[in-house]
Amino acid sequence: MRTADTDQLALVEHLRGARGRAELVARLRQGITAGVLRDGETLPATRVLAADLGIARGSVVQAYEELLGEGFLATRPGGATRVAAAVSARPAAPPAVAPDTTAREPEPRIDLRPGRPGTVGLDTDPAWRAAWRRGADAVPVDLPDLAGDPGLRAEIAAHVRRTRGVECAAGDVVVTAGTAEAFLLMLLTLRQGKPRLRVGLEDPGYRYARRTVTALGDEPIAIPVRDGSVDPAGLPALDAIIVTPSHQYPVGGAMPVARRYALLEWAREHDAVVIEDDYDSEFRHGSAPLPAITGLVPRAPAVLVGTFSKTVSPALRLGYLVIPDPEVAAAVHATRELLSTPVAQQVQDAARHFLAGGGYRRHIARMRRVYAHRRSLVAGVRLADGLTLSALEGGLHAVISWPRGHVAGQALRDRLGRAGIACGDLDDYRLVMRDGDPEGVVVGYAAVTDLQLDEALAVIARS
Ligand SMILES: Cc1ncc(COP(=O)(O)O)c(C=O)c1O
Repeated sequence: MRTADTDQLALVEHLRGARGRAELVARLRQGITAGVLRDGETLPATRVLAADLGIARGSVVQAYEELLGEGFLATRPGGATRVAAAVSARPAAPPAVAPDTTAREPEPRIDLRPGRPGTVGLDTDPAWRAAWRRGADAVPVDLPDLAGDPGLRAEIAAHVRRTRGVECAAGDVVVTAGTAEAFLLMLLTLRQGKPRLRVGLEDPGYRYARRTVTALGDEPIAIPVRDGSVDPAGLPALDAIIVTPSHQYPVGGAMPVARRYALLEWAREHDAVVIEDDYDSEFRHGSAPLPAITGLVPRAPAVLVGTFSKTVSPALRLGYLVIPDPEVAAAVHATRELLSTPVAQQVQDAARHFLAGGGYRRHIARMRRVYAHRRSLVAGVRLADGLTLSALEGGLHAVISWPRGHVAGQALRDRLGRAGIACGDLDDYRLVMRDGDPEGVVVGYAAVTDLQLDEALAVIARS
């Protein structure tokens, strides 16, 4: 069976190339927000669309369900699925989608989606293994300290002082279940007494920050990234702003020092807090990272969020907040007390031993060499005219972008699709679609092997 209607044929063309649920969701969402699909327009039946696109019907059903849940689509019992009324004009602010842990889609042959670090060698690293053995020594009968294990907090403070120049002590640190919980703790804390927070988010930016803000019922305010960062001049009144000043996520670039000071001044003026997402500053390729905003002035109206997700593994669910303002710190402790959600003691113990014994520092140094090599391979790729490579100054990913609709960009997407190579889609990181926004792919180069990366780069290279 094939799609018949002319509008639906145009839609199928727009969706062509989607290889599974996630890509279908992204393309449908983009189609709706970009006006390819109009309010009230009927979508093809799932069986028909699946046949047209050559993908499993279950993937189409799941994609429709997901967009129904997000309010982009609507349906009546027994009726067709349609674009929900008055959504095509609204900004492309999809409640970001959680990573699909149930693995309903076939694994890509080469997975270059960002956010996945290299962990090869860690399982046999004697320091890592010893840290976990020592973590198992004691089986406590009490809840962990709600702010985090004091020993781990001291190790983290030392790490942050050494690597980020932020003058802090164990008492300024709260151990969290990754950046995700750090955001949650901060927003819940700042919410006290306010019906709804206005939270500034970089656009393009980190999807899970946006997800947390919307999940809590707070208002995400898109702040465009210009020349590598948000510009504090002309920021609206906000309660908080989440920024990635060391290495803007995902497009790269760093916030210049003058803007960092200006952002702190703006925060003081507006009684706002800067949430500094310092997710990958351990990995700089070449230049040293600029000083963290949180450490620039005493008692800065800012908090630093760090994570072990890039340096070790996101599966650890381990991160931290560094809070220089004691009043804010006390309020965060109170929120933690209320939630009673400390990180597992064994994870904290193992991390403490790994840091204290120097294993963490050595692991980072080793991975820095691995990633620097990978980065040089990516930097050396010869792209077709019109394609631009960015974000290579740090971290574990790069971005290849091109003017929207550029033929060489579409050809690159097709080659990647045919070769079974998965990358992130730059449009998924946008809150608002603006005229002139480039298209692109986000390429994580950490979790694959050198051979896989070579193969992928051969596909990416100008043909
Ligand atoms: C911008 C950004 N911040 C933070 C993180 C880490 O999040 P978490 O610590 O919750 O794993 C990531 C991981 O991909 C990221 O891309």
